[in-house]
Amino acid sequence: MKIAMIGTGYVGLVSGVCFAEFGFQVTCVDKNPVIIDRLRAGEVTIYEPGLDELLVRNARDGRLTFTTELAETVADADVIFVAVGTPSRRGDGEADLQYIHAAADEIAAAMKPNAVIVIKSTVVVGTNADVRARIARARPDVPFSMVSNPEFLREGSAVEDFLRPDRVVVGVHDDAGAAAMKRVYRPLYLRETPMIVTTLENAEIIKYAANAFLAMKVTFINEVADLCEKAGGNVQDVARAIGMDNRIGSKFLHAGPGFGGSCFPKDTRAYAATGRKMDAPQTLIEQVVSVNEQRKRSMAERVIEAARRTGAKSVAVLGIAFKPNTDDIRESPALDIIPALQKAGLSVRAHDPEAREAAESVLHDVTWCKSAYEAVDGAGITLLLTEWNAYRALDLKRVSTLMSGRLLFDLRNVFNAQDLEGSGLEYHSVGRPL
Ligand code: NAD
Ligand code: UGA
Repeated sequence: MKIAMIGTGYVGLVSGVCFAEFGFQVTCVDKNPVIIDRLRAGEVTIYEPGLDELLVRNARDGRLTFTTELAETVADADVIFVAVGTPSRRGDGEADLQYIHAAADEIAAAMKPNAVIVIKSTVVVGTNADVRARIARARPDVPFSMVSNPEFLREGSAVEDFLRPDRVVVGVHDDAGAAAMKRVYRPLYLRETPMIVTTLENAEIIKYAANAFLAMKVTFINEVADLCEKAGGNVQDVARAIGMDNRIGSKFLHAGPGFGGSCFPKDTRAYAATGRKMDAPQTLIEQVVSVNEQRKRSMAERVIEAARRTGAKSVAVLGIAFKPNTDDIRESPALDIIPALQKAGLSVRAHDPEAREAAESVLHDVTWCKSAYEAVDGAGITLLLTEWNAYRALDLKRVSTLMSGRLLFDLRNVFNAQDLEGSGLEYHSVGRPL
């Protein structure tokens, strides 16, 4: 079975590499020649733990190839996955489906009879049916199957998530589509991974509802943290205890500076927009979107207020990526917080173990540092925004000695009393007394 993966970004690359690892012949297509040239040279284009080794091995063994030639790849493929971006449309927050439609038109022109077309990108309900109709109009003579197969991997643990998912969701409209999915996911199936075979519409709604629910959970605990701060509570104790109730679950209850990334922000906006459009208001998620936006502003305000109080002029920001173990900075809280600090007259020195290259073109007038210690050198305030492991073991006495001021804002609750002992730092975390 030959697989074509259209779009070789975070999802396309990880999925393509993993399908090759399952033993299939995979061709990854991207219209960006720079990405393809780098991948052909064996260079991984995204930072994702464990991906290098799998990519190099499968490419060497001839199961994985990279190209910019969509038509010739599709013409030869049995299963065609679409993993192109579905970003937010400016203004209304709806998902911009232009890349999906463009890919669908190119696939329609080149596909062979009985091809199975699988949308892996996150798309709003109704998109698979629309794309199916669009392709059928373009090629009424050619039979094909349409499948919706949303992806649930997380950046930073994408390979592990793909190879060991909690479940695989496939929306189908015919038996051939379902059979093809059973075949491509057979290695997981053999490991007893549940496969939910459902309708195209259900699969689309499942993906958005899952992301919306998780974003809501994070937003909920962030507001609990606010209450803990006012009432003298400890959000970590509260989260631990409520999480022990299986109906609630312990994951996604870490308070922080607000959720970011390439998915939660755009997907919650798109989900809310779909609700408005379909006259089924998703009021909880509308609130989640605005509470999260407000949270990023209020986190910047905390630091600005402390700078005013202490006369600090510069801030060392540790962590730009929206979470650890990724170089992705899309909608990272740092992209709102840093410009707000600069607008208030504060200068910013920054460090991130992987995201500097991406951040340099987006954030301006920042002094980029090679290490966390270099960043804090001379800073009035240190602000930890991403919980990279490398920051957990920082020697806070050394940090304090290097800084010109004494303020440490730890917006990820990384440090504890022991870490701070003897450092002389004035420590502020999120939703807990220490
Ligand atoms: P991305 O922006 O990293 O990659 C998309 C790639 O598609 C780009 O490299 C682009 O050049 C390429 N592309 C666009 N149109 C093309 C075309 N016609 N032919 C060939 N290549 C084309 O996007 P991503 O983060 O991988 O996300 C892709 C989709 O998967 C989105 O819908 C996203 O919501 C969803 N998703 C993402 C994640 C994640 O962790 N990033 C997880 C689950 C689902
Ligand atoms: C998220 C989902 O977890 C994946 O299942 C989904 O496939 C993906 O979106 C997607 O659709 O693209 P991802 O964006 O990689 O994955 O990262 P998460 O680990 O979910 O974190 C998202 C944001 O929430 C980050 O900014 C993170 O710091 C924040 N977060 C997460 C918290 O603040 N607290 C938590 O307890 C968990």
